[in-house]
Amino acid sequence: MKHRIIFATGNPGKMREIRQILGDLGCEILSMKEAGAAPEIVEDGTTFGENAEIKARAVWACTGEIVLADDSGLVIDYLGGEPGIYSARYMGENTSYEIKNRNLIERLSQAQGAERAARFVCNIAAVLPDGRVLHTEAVMEGVIAQEPAGSGGFGYDPILLLTEYGVTSAELTMEEKNRISHRGKALEAMKQKLKGILEEDS
Ligand code: IMP
Repeated sequence: MKHRIIFATGNPGKMREIRQILGDLGCEILSMKEAGAAPEIVEDGTTFGENAEIKARAVWACTGEIVLADDSGLVIDYLGGEPGIYSARYMGENTSYEIKNRNLIERLSQAQGAERAARFVCNIAAVLPDGRVLHTEAVMEGVIAQEPAGSGGFGYDPILLLTEYGVTSAELTMEEKNRISHRGKALEAMKQKLKGILEEDS
């Protein structure tokens, strides 16, 4: 049976990335809107994994098909893990990332070297038609830059300096970022898990 995979997001950028990575699974890939699901979702989990699962379950309850959802954010060690699961809401949803990024750099003004360690984290949850749940999680490690740099990407990309590459996440091309990013790696790992499940099924 040909399965459909529904991704619980309204973000067209994420859908493009997901179609690129999961395209060769041989499934039809739809956004929740394309699948006709518009549930009320309250993201009240305390971890990335819980929030990803809450989103996936809410859409699964409408469709009963394979549903994927992700939850991601920036974790800064010096700030005890902030903004973490509150990354999108940090300083208010409508505050620009120019302001959020300046604020975080300012809060780290006394932090030196390894104290500036930070990472993007992404957890992906998949709910299968029978209700089973799978998770994958991946990170992209770096340090908080002294100054924002780069115009690619979005959100906190200009302030995460990838020490391994010597550039911020906003200085990578989309292809480079997809290959090494938290979301790219978590999606790739989920693809491998789903491959196994789909093979069992066929
Ligand atoms: P969500 O997973 O779509 O809820 O997004 C969480 C938030 O984390 C985003 O709104 C950004 O603030 C931040 N974030 C997650 N991934 C990235 C990334 O790749 N670059 C920059 N910011 C990110």
